[in-house]
Amino acid sequence: MLNKRLLKTFMSVSRYLSENLYIVFNEKINNYIISARFRWILFFKRELEYPIKKKPHPFPSIIQIQTINTCNASCKMCPYATNPPKETKRMSDELFEKIIKEIIKESKSTFIFLYLQNEPLMDNDIFKKIKLIKRLSEETISTGLFTNGSLFTDKKIKELISSGNNVLIVSLDAFTQKTFNKIRKGLNFNHIVANVNKIKNSKYSKTLAVEFTVQKDNIKEFKQFIRFWKKQHVPVVVNYISNRSGDLKDFDEMSIPLPNIPFFRRWGVKVYKKIIKCCPAVLSTFNILSNGDVILCCNDYSKKLILGNVNTSSIKEIWNGPKYQKIREMFYNGEYRKIPTCRYCYNWKNNFL
Ligand SMILES: C[S@@+](CC[C@H](N)C(=O)[O-])C[C@H]1O[C@@H](n2cnc3c(N)ncnc32)[C@H](O)[C@@H]1O
Ligand code: SF4
Ligand code: SF4
Repeated sequence: MLNKRLLKTFMSVSRYLSENLYIVFNEKINNYIISARFRWILFFKRELEYPIKKKPHPFPSIIQIQTINTCNASCKMCPYATNPPKETKRMSDELFEKIIKEIIKESKSTFIFLYLQNEPLMDNDIFKKIKLIKRLSEETISTGLFTNGSLFTDKKIKELISSGNNVLIVSLDAFTQKTFNKIRKGLNFNHIVANVNKIKNSKYSKTLAVEFTVQKDNIKEFKQFIRFWKKQHVPVVVNYISNRSGDLKDFDEMSIPLPNIPFFRRWGVKVYKKIIKCCPAVLSTFNILSNGDVILCCNDYSKKLILGNVNTSSIKEIWNGPKYQKIREMFYNGEYRKIPTCRYCYNWKNNFL
C-alpha cells in the first residue's frame, strides 16, 4: 500500500519536474539533444510509459512541419532526388497558424522542427514563421531546422538571429569538396562551409551543428570531419544512411557494413525494442506535410500511409485516433511487417535509428 503510494508520488513529482525543467533549461537541453540525437530524458520517459499504459503520451513530443515541399538539391542518398514532387505546394498561413495554436494550447514542451523531406529555406518566410511561434508561445516553444545551408545570405542570417530559433543543423556529409560533390549534388561545398563560418561568427548565439550522414562514399572522411569540426567548437550530429523505409533506390550500393555502426547505438535500440516494443518514431514524432497530410514517419517519401489531415482534424485527434493506435499495437504485437511504411525499414530491422 505504502509502496504504491510512494510510487505514485514519485511518478507525479518526476512528471512535474521533467515537464517544467524542460522549459526552464531549454537551451542546455537543446545542446544535450544534439549529442543524444533528440532522445532526451523527458521524451524517453514518455516513451517508457507506453508498455505500461499501452497509450502514447497524449500529445507528440516532436512535431515536424513541411512548410513547402521543394528542395534545391538532389543528394545521392535522398529519395527526393529521384522522385521530386510534381507540383510545388506551400502550406497556407492559416493552416500553419492553426497548427501552432494547437501545439501551444496542448503542450509547451513539444519541440517543433520546421523541415520535412524538403529544404526549409526554400520557404522565404521560414524565419518569419519561427518568429511567429516564438511570439505566440511567449518564447516557451523550441524550434529547430536541418538545412543544406546553401540559401543563407547576410539578410537570411540576420533573420535567423532575430527569429530566436534554437537549433540549426547544417548538413555537410563530407570533409572534402570531391566527396561533397559526389553526394550533395547541385550544391557548392565552399559556399556552404563559408555560410557555417559566417553563422558561427555572427550574433547567432543558439545551437549550431554540422551533420554527417555516414555512407559508402564518405566513410573514410568521417574521423577527419569529426576532428576538424570539434576543433572549430561546432558539434557534429552523426547519422547513418537508411533505406528511407524502402524508398531509396540503390541503397545497397550506398550502405555501409553494419559493424561500422557503433555497438552502443545498436545495443541501445535492441534494449529499447525489448522493453518498449514500439518504434520511438511512432511514440514521439508527428509529421505534417505541406498539404496538411500526416505521415507516419519522415522516412516515408512515397507516402505509403496517410494517417489524417490537419485541415480537417486536430493533431490530438489524429495522434490518439484509431489508425495511429492500431499501428502502435501492431508494433507491440511484433507485427511491424504488416505496416506499409515500416515493412522494409532497414533501420528497425537492424537495430539502429
Ligand atoms: C532530408 S534532409 C532535409 C533537410 C535539408 N534539406 C538537409 O539536407 O539538411 C535531413 C537530413 O537527412 C539526411 N539524409 C538524407 N538522406 C538520408 C538517408 N538516406 N539516410 C539517412 N539520412 C539521410 C540529410 O543528410 C540531412 O542531414
Ligand atoms: S538531403 Fe536535403 S538537400 Fe539533399 S536532396 Fe534531400 S532534402 Fe534536398
Ligand atoms: S520502423 Fe522505420 S519506417 Fe517505421 S516508423 Fe520506425 S523508423 Fe519509421
